[in-house]
Amino acid sequence: MTQDELKALVGQAALKYVVPGEVVGVGTGSTVNKFIDALATMKDRVPGAVSSSNASTERLRALGIRVFDANEVGELAVYIDGADEIDGRGYMVKGGGAALTREKIVAAQSRRFVCIADESKRVEVLGRFPLPVEVVPMATQRIVRQFQAMGGVAKVRLKDGQPLVTDNGQHILDVTGLQIREPLAFERDVKAWPGVVDVGVFAQQKAAVCLLGTSRGVETLD
Ligand code: 5RP
Repeated sequence: MTQDELKALVGQAALKYVVPGEVVGVGTGSTVNKFIDALATMKDRVPGAVSSSNASTERLRALGIRVFDANEVGELAVYIDGADEIDGRGYMVKGGGAALTREKIVAAQSRRFVCIADESKRVEVLGRFPLPVEVVPMATQRIVRQFQAMGGVAKVRLKDGQPLVTDNGQHILDVTGLQIREPLAFERDVKAWPGVVDVGVFAQQKAAVCLLGTSRGVETLD
């Protein structure tokens, strides 16, 4: 099976975690796009979604799924999102699509995080994928030096030769050279640095369930 087919498989499998009658939290990325397409087949059974990015909002609306502002609704039963890395404890690195801050907000509003990913995302220790960090632009170089002091190399993410601007009007640093063995402490510490909007380690909001697309089918890790 191709990676695209594995993504479609887990996107479809995630439907069984959607609670009929309840608004669903929706993440961002190519795997989530498959989930959104699958969700459209049961759109009459959910009031709508809270979305973690402008890109997902557009796709949801294009398929006739209502999008609520996070402030319009209370706790969500479930949040479905992809990951760039996931370890055996459900800790993740996310933000490859630059949506990490809003993803963490919607995840925090949800009772259960269901991660959907293909098996290439499984790691022993977080840090293989460049860690995305959303930063306020004026703090960029100081934060680059702080990562340097811990052995990381942080680079501003570019789009068309210019710093990429997130849905929140901020920039993204991608940090290589880290091995994140204590995700909870790492997330707490980096998040406290002035100018860090959020860090792509999802430890506080870790996955309760991971649906992993493999050549043998969907494996459920919980
Ligand atoms: C976006 C994310 C995505 O969930 C993550 O990058 C995985 O994306 P994909 O499903 O395209 O591999 O965190 O900010």
